[in-house]
Amino acid sequence: MINKGIILAGGKGTRMSPLTKAVNKQLLPIYDKPLIFYPLSILMLAKIKDILIVVNKGQLEQYKKILPNGKRLGIKLSYAEQAKPKGLPDAFILGEKFINKKNVALILGDNFFYGQYLSQKLKSCVKLKSGAKILLHKVAKPEAYGVAKIDKKNKVIGIKEKPKNFFSDLAITGLYFFDKKVSEYAKKLKPSRRGELEITDLIKKYQSLKQLKADYIGRGGAWLDTGSIDDFYKTSSFVSAIENRQGFKIACLEEIALNNRWISKKHIKESIKFYGKCNYSNYLKKLIS
Ligand code: G1P
Repeated sequence: MINKGIILAGGKGTRMSPLTKAVNKQLLPIYDKPLIFYPLSILMLAKIKDILIVVNKGQLEQYKKILPNGKRLGIKLSYAEQAKPKGLPDAFILGEKFINKKNVALILGDNFFYGQYLSQKLKSCVKLKSGAKILLHKVAKPEAYGVAKIDKKNKVIGIKEKPKNFFSDLAITGLYFFDKKVSEYAKKLKPSRRGELEITDLIKKYQSLKQLKADYIGRGGAWLDTGSIDDFYKTSSFVSAIENRQGFKIACLEEIALNNRWISKKHIKESIKFYGKCNYSNYLKKLIS
């Protein structure tokens, strides 16, 4: 089982400067919520309550303003500061104490997932006992991601980080499930040519041990990018279209916590006070009326 999760919310967001000069990218809005709400909602949908958020050194206070601790959400939130972005596997080195030799999920702070069967899929992923599990999604531009090649039996037979020539169109999404060995393996990785530890090298380690499983988001599910300013607006439009059409919110943390029976009406009332008079609070009021 996986009861712990890490959100990697560091990075300089240079591609989005000047927006990211003063504010961390994951605190910028995707429509009506900070981006960080979306990956956090995914861990909460996976019923993960013990969560570590890795942030850039010097930006902790920004995060604590919006996500001070997990109390109102019925979860346990802790933070770790990263002095310099050293690549995704650094989360398992920085978070070694937090992981405490238990299985752990990692989600990238800028990854957006949405889909009908996602919750069910997540619940099955957190049942992982040993090895690693990745989620794949077909994309039009695989060269921008880590990609995996699979055989007819859905077995991963090759992994490459941002391949220049076509290798596979199945991107490895930024949601990973690892067993308790992950920190030990992460510490043995060598930086790649771009000078970072690569998550694909870590995944390859599990593959070499024949301990890698892969599943799919599925074509009805959405895995959207928030890498550039254009992507940010496209993802915002997606959220706005669905929320305004259907009248429910995507990634309303309090709603997920309430559905998970982690909190009561009392906590929702505290949240309404915390957010103040706004559309988000009005939505919370409806949840408990
Ligand atoms: C990272 C990973 C890549 C993965 C992607 C998902 O890319 O290195 O394997 O497919 O996240 O968002 P980066 O954000 O470093 O470009």
